[in-house]
Amino acid sequence: MTAPILRRLSEMRALRREWTMRGETVGLVPTMGALHQGHLSLVKAAKAACDRVVVTIFVNPKQFNNPADLANYPRTEEDDAQKLAPLGVDAIYVPDPDEIYPEGFATEVAVAGAIIDVMEGPFRPGHFEGVATVVAKLFLQTGADHAFFGEKDYQQLLVVRRMAQDMDIPITVVGCETVRETGGLAMSSRNVQLTPQGLDTAAHIYRILTAMAQQLRAGQAYAPLQSAALNELADLGFGDVEYLDLRCADTLVSLPVADRPARLFIAVWLEDVRLIDNIPV
Ligand code: PAF
Repeated sequence: MTAPILRRLSEMRALRREWTMRGETVGLVPTMGALHQGHLSLVKAAKAACDRVVVTIFVNPKQFNNPADLANYPRTEEDDAQKLAPLGVDAIYVPDPDEIYPEGFATEVAVAGAIIDVMEGPFRPGHFEGVATVVAKLFLQTGADHAFFGEKDYQQLLVVRRMAQDMDIPITVVGCETVRETGGLAMSSRNVQLTPQGLDTAAHIYRILTAMAQQLRAGQAYAPLQSAALNELADLGFGDVEYLDLRCADTLVSLPVADRPARLFIAVWLEDVRLIDNIPV
């Protein structure tokens, strides 16, 4: 059965009140729609941990630094509702834009410091401010107890966790493992923009990261592994590599060797599509 679609905050709040009266816990999966298996795995995690599950669909203009990207972002609400139907979601909250950014809205939630100054931060100015602002609103509007985010956007996960903690929002931010295609490519709404050949090439990202992680675990230094990987990516036909970094999993500080819990991060262009991925080391 398809879940009810709520468009007004008053409807969301009324439902949340009912659940609170019954002592039920609520899991939130915030999305921008165009749902794929990665999102559905978050919903399954939420279902397993909470009495009620709300999926939000809101294409957040404030987190796009490129207007064309925003204009071209897929909007597939009906399809998304169909995909959620078998999972037993309790509500799909698709807020009308004025519920998120009403006339006169003038507040920005910005996490400062090392976790936003690197990787996606410099390449996407304003992006994390947009994410933190909308996610803070969605946390408060849904009153969820737990929120589920994919590790595919690992930096976003850290930003959101920091924001919730700093703002005393009573919610647990849960990170869920990246879901991958059979060949290893991380699932993403952008993958549909790749040609079949591009999809084959893109699968090398995961292979290369996995091989690097193995060598790092064996104690090798990062710099030579990074140069070799950059050469390999160029030979395979990838475009610009915006970053290929070894970083501490908690602080995102750059590491010369994997001497603590760490992750490998990449952002690379292929066929005019920007792909990001990361794996634990
Ligand atoms: O990861 C996303 O889809 C978005 O950044 C999010 C968390 C839904 C906020 O708009």
